[in-house]
Amino acid sequence: MTRVLVTGATGTIGKQVVAALQARGATVRAGARHAPRLEGAEGVALDLSTGAGLAAALEGVDAAFCLAPFVEDMVAPVETFIAHAQAAKLPFVLKLSAAGAATDAGLALARQHGAGDAALQASGLAYAVLRPTFFQENIANFHAESIRTSGAFYGASAGQKTAYISARDIGEAAAAILLNPAAHRGQTYDISGPEALTDTEVAALLSAIVERDVKYVNLTPEVMRSNMAQASMPQWLVDGLVGLEGVKAAGYAAATLGQLGALLSREPTRMHETLRLQRTHFA
Ligand SMILES: NC(=O)c1ccc[n+]([C@@H]2O[C@H](COP(=O)([O-])OP(=O)(O)OC[C@H]3O[C@@H](n4cnc5c(N)ncnc54)[C@H](OP(=O)(O)O)[C@@H]3O)[C@@H](O)[C@H]2O)c1
Repeated sequence: MTRVLVTGATGTIGKQVVAALQARGATVRAGARHAPRLEGAEGVALDLSTGAGLAAALEGVDAAFCLAPFVEDMVAPVETFIAHAQAAKLPFVLKLSAAGAATDAGLALARQHGAGDAALQASGLAYAVLRPTFFQENIANFHAESIRTSGAFYGASAGQKTAYISARDIGEAAAAILLNPAAHRGQTYDISGPEALTDTEVAALLSAIVERDVKYVNLTPEVMRSNMAQASMPQWLVDGLVGLEGVKAAGYAAATLGQLGALLSREPTRMHETLRLQRTHFA
């Protein structure tokens, strides 16, 4: 039976990767800074910022899912992972990257993912990379509180569309790759959801699901930046989040990309399905 290490196993994507691997009969080792307690999986403590626990976590696995947590420097954790994977002679690694990742990208987050992807490519390890667009779950993860308390969520996407993708679909695509590495070795998959929506359209979908009015309020990047600074968010995070809204506002996230359907054995999930699954977050 295939044994797979999943890093970031308690997060939005990692949880879905664990579930999809288990549904396909794999043995899962689930990693996070505190050993996760996930039913049916072996929980291991590992820290990608220090390397602690990684050697033991990689011992005896056939493949691993590498997720850089969203931190100021997302390159160092990937380099740490790669060094340990090389030492362990890991047979295959699937890295989660992001749409638009490139070493010369304008946005620091995209440059960091690009640098991590390039380090993996140069590592000599057998690998594949998934580059998803914005997650559908961002609406609940980032905006549920504001939707609950003020019936609105805020951004700076300026009326442009985003082809939001479902975390469950990313998890299933990841599991398909991790359990059939020979078919995916050396591939980079750019994946999006099946439809592109403006955030006003997302708000309308959500209004119908929660049966009350939810509005999307568009801010200028300057107002968004100053609101975040007033909330004492660190500068790198303010720059990152404002920059990501700029990616949407420029229309760069609007393309629906075809590769997800080929990795899944079903139609990709639409935004309203994810919002409906998560409706209790907005109540
Ligand atoms: N949100 C989007 O729209 C989007 C789109 C494309 C790509 N991405 C990329 O997706 C990634 C984030 O994925 P996510 O949303 O699933 O993350 P998440 O929900 O924030 O979960 C992060 C996971 O990493 C673990 N973790 C945090 N720090 C760690 C460390 N130092 N060592 C080991 N594990 C650590 C966390 O568990 P513990 O805290 O318990 O350790 C948790 O399991 C980022 O690379 C981001 O750039 C996001």
